[in-house]
Amino acid sequence: MAEINETVAVVGQGYVGLPVAVRAVLSGYRVIGFEIDDRKVDDLNAGRSHVEDITDAQMAEVLATGRYSATSDPGELAGFDVAVISVPTPMGEGVPDLSYIESAAATVAPHIRRGSTVILESTTYPGTTEELAGPILEAGSGLRAGEDFHLGYSPERIDPGNTTWRLENTPKVVSGVDAASLAEVKRFFDNIVDTTVPVSGTREAELTKLLENTFRHVNIALVNELAMFARDLGIDVWEAIDAASTKPFGYMRFTPGPGVGGHCLPIDPSYLSWQVERSLGQTFRFVELANDVNEHMPDYVVRRAQALLNDHHKAVNGSTVLVYGLAYKANTSDARETPSRPIISQLQALGATVLLTDPHVAEHQFPDGVKRVDGTEDDRHAADLIVFLVDHSDFDRDGISSGDTPVLDCRRALEGPSVQSL
Ligand SMILES: NC(=O)c1ccc[n+]([C@@H]2O[C@H](COP(=O)([O-])OP(=O)(O)OC[C@H]3O[C@@H](n4cnc5c(N)ncnc54)[C@H](O)[C@@H]3O)[C@@H](O)[C@H]2O)c1
Repeated sequence: MAEINETVAVVGQGYVGLPVAVRAVLSGYRVIGFEIDDRKVDDLNAGRSHVEDITDAQMAEVLATGRYSATSDPGELAGFDVAVISVPTPMGEGVPDLSYIESAAATVAPHIRRGSTVILESTTYPGTTEELAGPILEAGSGLRAGEDFHLGYSPERIDPGNTTWRLENTPKVVSGVDAASLAEVKRFFDNIVDTTVPVSGTREAELTKLLENTFRHVNIALVNELAMFARDLGIDVWEAIDAASTKPFGYMRFTPGPGVGGHCLPIDPSYLSWQVERSLGQTFRFVELANDVNEHMPDYVVRRAQALLNDHHKAVNGSTVLVYGLAYKANTSDARETPSRPIISQLQALGATVLLTDPHVAEHQFPDGVKRVDGTEDDRHAADLIVFLVDHSDFDRDGISSGDTPVLDCRRALEGPSVQSL
């Protein structure tokens, strides 16, 4: 691979920023991984990755090129050619919290030169790049976006744990505030991914990401609500979903679950509904409805757990419940906004002792009052009920399915006489 004589600054070395940094190094760029968390900086410089999609072996490969270093010193941003901003965009009290973007833009701004390119990747509502990031970058650099430096937006489509669709082979939507900015953003990503998809403006690119996530959020809510009704009607919703999925056109498979989690689905659609409400004074009804259904799935899981114990002449109060999975999805350590948390706290509030196993999530993230276990046969024997929340591939599905302890399977991953699906 030919070296590219340009320096890329990737601001934020998390689930999104680190894969971009790694890919840029492996494509020939020099990369500065700028990160405010000193522990992550130390780990990365020592070859330890905190993101599952990047292995320690990949970090070693990246460090061996001599073209990557992580730092928390903003002075090292001097002289960058391309800056990619991939910092968090959470919700704070029902309102988008853009403070991370503001501070990242303020950090990058003094180092912008004529001809530099700044690309925002964080998920956010349409208009953020031009109305929020642009003015901060201009004020801090004394230069004009579009005229003096390039500015664009490119949404991340990273799917943690997905080994088929990775950063490099997933088409990347790119945009710029003008034609020259678009060309530069596209040029950068053409060097690190297989396919780029240009759109005419940054707002279209910002909306693309929110459309994708809102689509998922709404469809998950649809099957979740259907699952609840189908059960009351005595119909197997999973069989209907499997059958519908054989339709080769006009249908896309989504499956019920204990609720949505992670950084994206519980938050991104609300960025859009917040903007629609603020700008148009209207309610984005689909998002409100989907939020309502998905946010109540943990309550439904607890009701089902209660009913299953009841079938065995037991109350939640005084029972031991073994929970499989704290992460918000299979094979990831990401426990942000995970539905497992409200499920566990409701079970505890009803008087259950909760045993929890999740080999992917660090112990300090475990909720208060749970006992961390390995999910062995002895743990299953000790439990009155098993609640299977996350389908990590290293969980012993056969062992869980074949035991005598009743199981509430929220992922349709298990089969056996003691197993009930959500
Ligand atoms: N995780 C995903 O699957 C995913 C997928 C697509 C899009 N996104 C979006 O990408 C963005 C980043 O998400 P993430 O999952 O990578 O978050 P993350 O928390 O894993 O990583 C963000 C990193 O940025 C660092 N940071 C915060 N402020 C900083 C600053 N001013 N300067 C330097 N570093 C700073 C944090 O310490 C953290 O390490 C969000 O907008 C998110 O919605 C995430």
